Amino acid sequence: MSEFSAPKGIPDYFPPASADFLAVRNALTDAAHRAGYGHIELPIFEETALFARGVGESTDVVSKEMYTFADRGGRTVTLRPEGTAGVVRAVIQHGLDRGQLPVKLCYSGPFFRYERPQAGRYRQLQQVGVEAIGVDDPALDAEVIAIADEGYRRLGLTGYRLDLTSLGDETCRPEYREMLQEFLLGLDLDEPTRERARINPLRVLDDKRSEVREATADAPLMLDHLSDSAREHFEQVKAHLDRLGVQYVINPRLVRGLDYYTKTTFEFVHDGLGAQSGIGGGGRYDGLMKQLGGKQELSGIGFGIGVDRTVLALQAEGVSVAGAGRVQVFGVPLGAAAKAEMVGVAGALRDAGISVDLAYGDRALKGAMKAADRSGARLALVLGERELDERTIEIKDLTNGEQQSVPLDDVLAQVRSRLTS
Ligand code: HAM
Repeated sequence: MSEFSAPKGIPDYFPPASADFLAVRNALTDAAHRAGYGHIELPIFEETALFARGVGESTDVVSKEMYTFADRGGRTVTLRPEGTAGVVRAVIQHGLDRGQLPVKLCYSGPFFRYERPQAGRYRQLQQVGVEAIGVDDPALDAEVIAIADEGYRRLGLTGYRLDLTSLGDETCRPEYREMLQEFLLGLDLDEPTRERARINPLRVLDDKRSEVREATADAPLMLDHLSDSAREHFEQVKAHLDRLGVQYVINPRLVRGLDYYTKTTFEFVHDGLGAQSGIGGGGRYDGLMKQLGGKQELSGIGFGIGVDRTVLALQAEGVSVAGAGRVQVFGVPLGAAAKAEMVGVAGALRDAGISVDLAYGDRALKGAMKAADRSGARLALVLGERELDERTIEIKDLTNGEQQSVPLDDVLAQVRSRLTS
């Protein structure tokens, strides 16, 4: 056992699995960039009140899971548990909403939630997120959802489903909430569940216990009580998704863990992950700008994709996305003079954009060739004293074992033509 280990619930990513991690992150950010989302780099911690007000005091995230501490100046700060509140804060602070709308932003990185660690549930979790702020257009809701769907599909993921619903708006939700609360408090529920019904009645609809599911089978559903404008918005989102070829399942009981959602709300669920099946989710948050002190009442929509869980989903499906090996070329110098020459060759190849690793530590031919195989390289370059005297170098194709001696001065062109053939 090593003396130190990573903090509980925090994964390390290292080769080769870290290549999957990067592939997931890049597939999702690339999909966002293709739709015109610009990169935003957010602070890792913010003033605690931003999350308390933005995410909602009654949520588990705020009431139980925040990493909050006083800095040396006595300010209360919190490691970001999610990205939306920080993006909205930055948009307000820098007046980005005074420019072209919608403001379309994309971010990635670690977030922190003090949850009970288990498979797929970490205390440091990684997300790729997008936010589109300032235009209330159902086509934008569909775009955001389609970006996530495209990212997953490009990775080769197939075993996921998109759950979709509408949580209504300020004209219909308060009335529905009261109706649901009345219904729930009329049931014979245990006290903690009754308490939840008082604080956040929608959460009770998401209860996984079969007795609660049975008792709430006839509960009123938000989707049946949408205002005309919220219903029209939802109809249009569905029509746009149909046009984009994005499949979805209407789940009127979908409940999210954050309080800011209005209207379109969604979650991507993967079957291969057990209890922690949510690989990404998001929705509209039309009141958040105002709630965080924005002068204008601007709408917003976005998603957060769980990178860790998407990596697990790929593994569960047996999909390998990491691609080729660590490097394209592996250099094997035999002897000090050959090593000096090979260091220069490696530098020249790297300058030309070719990835190269070397056998370091004066290894004998056999051990060095084993390292070459393990590197996943396509080609090995072998340089001994005899070759050096003749100003030649051996190029071995590690996929078929073919070997050829070429002039040392021609090595770049020779390597290049083999890599592209
Ligand atoms: P969220 O649903 O809380 O939404 O998190 C998004 C995704 O992050 C989840 O679907 C899940 O894949 C991943 N995730 C959350 N907690 C953990 C954890 N403890 N361990 C591993 N993965 C986790 C948000 O954070 C919103 N900010 C998304 C959003 C953006 N809504 C609108 N815009």
